[in-house]
Amino acid sequence: MLTDENRIFTNLYGRHDWGLKGAKSRGQWSGTKALINKGRDWITDEVKASGLRGRGGAGFPTGLKWSFMPKVSDGRPHYLLVNADESEPGTCKDREILRHDPHLLIEGCLLAARGMDANLAFIYVRGEFMRERQRLEAAVEQAYEAKLIGKNNIHGWDLDIIVHHGAGAYICGEETAMMESIEGKKGQPRLKPPFPAGIGIYGNPTTVNNVESIASVPEILRRGGSWFAGLGRENNTGTKLFCVSGHVNNPSTFEEEMGIPFNEMIEKHCGGIRGGWDNLLAVIPGGSSVPCVKGELIQNAIMDFDGLQAVGSSLGTAAVIVMDNSTDIIKAIWRLSAFYKHESCGQCTPCREGTGWMMRVMERMVEGRAQKREIDMLFDVTKQIEGHTICALGDAAAWPIQGLIKNFRHVIEERIDNYTYNSDKDGAVPSIAAE
Ligand SMILES: Cc1cc2nc3c(=O)[nH]c(=O)nc-3n(C[C@H](O)[C@H](O)[C@H](O)COP(=O)(O)O)c2cc1C
Ligand code: SF4
Repeated sequence: MLTDENRIFTNLYGRHDWGLKGAKSRGQWSGTKALINKGRDWITDEVKASGLRGRGGAGFPTGLKWSFMPKVSDGRPHYLLVNADESEPGTCKDREILRHDPHLLIEGCLLAARGMDANLAFIYVRGEFMRERQRLEAAVEQAYEAKLIGKNNIHGWDLDIIVHHGAGAYICGEETAMMESIEGKKGQPRLKPPFPAGIGIYGNPTTVNNVESIASVPEILRRGGSWFAGLGRENNTGTKLFCVSGHVNNPSTFEEEMGIPFNEMIEKHCGGIRGGWDNLLAVIPGGSSVPCVKGELIQNAIMDFDGLQAVGSSLGTAAVIVMDNSTDIIKAIWRLSAFYKHESCGQCTPCREGTGWMMRVMERMVEGRAQKREIDMLFDVTKQIEGHTICALGDAAAWPIQGLIKNFRHVIEERIDNYTYNSDKDGAVPSIAAE
């Protein structure tokens, strides 16, 4: 279990002062100038050495991403874009940083900006996060007043921060849709390449990082990349914010060492599974986009990128959705299908048409009003969507259904058998229950 001295997020629950005074008392903004003075290459190398992988879902190595920014300026400004959209269902970690420890993020912006030769950072906040945005804006104002950021600040690296408020679309969490939205256009993903490090906001080199990724940077640099790399396992280093919801006794968000076994995590932080371990049906371990894992398989799973891949899923945003035996698993996955159908931006055909098609088939599967051969047909359609779209929303819509079919085909078949039996018995075909 993570010891207190290794924690990065020491005000996760808002028990202490969120403001500048409180942040300083927790060690933030200390030695920042010395870190800035070490220069761009040192910062990037140290983040590379820490093994930090992006906390926004895809797990791309952060230091490596920063090194894609042009080394020599061609006259265009460089930008940092912090992704505070946090719209992935089940995910509620970045908001805790925004409202309880905003200076950790602001200091992270300054250091990351130095590591990429950027003098302007945008923080794009999810539309529904009104209070979080207000708190962040207040903290940014404090940082300006204390000359911690801004032009000619005490750290010797100019940085302006613009807090931008979204309008509540899930797709604006995708990095290129976010850049379109910042430019005042409809939030629709761009084709890649070109990648943001070449052509980003207003055509200028841009790096997009998640709130947790950037907020982890000050402590990594203060304590050294090797400290972070010493936590967790190789390729899966550091500490991580997990958010556990659903059928556990105490749902919560907490910081843990990467690689904690699932059962230990649930017992220590969440008071166990509701009704005991025998009552565990399935878990979606990384936010709604990743495949579910059967209860018996996840119990001993290692909670990191490789550990969850080994059980056929993914760490994603580390939003762990626990479902006990009272869950209608088909209906739960149908609900996610409805979400992705609603959030598709409609730009590409497999996603626009496929998400609606899948949702409608899933709607019938919930009742059992389907043919068994349609299960394979549905699986086949998910495979035609996966990897064939402009952005990963298509994959995100496909994977939960694939997980359902791989793990719970027997439940779908039973539902179809029951429906057929009851229809034959009654001599009538019931209609779809109103949702
Ligand atoms: C549909 C969609 C929604 C996304 N939503 C978010 C989000 O809310 N927050 C986030 O940090 N990343 C989100 N991402 C991932 C971002 O595109 C991007 O990879 C991430 O912000 C990079 O930061 P990281 O490398 O620090 O993880 C989303 C991706 C997709 C395809
Ligand atoms: S995959 Fe879906 S959300 Fe992404 S660009 Fe295509 S239509 Fe839009």
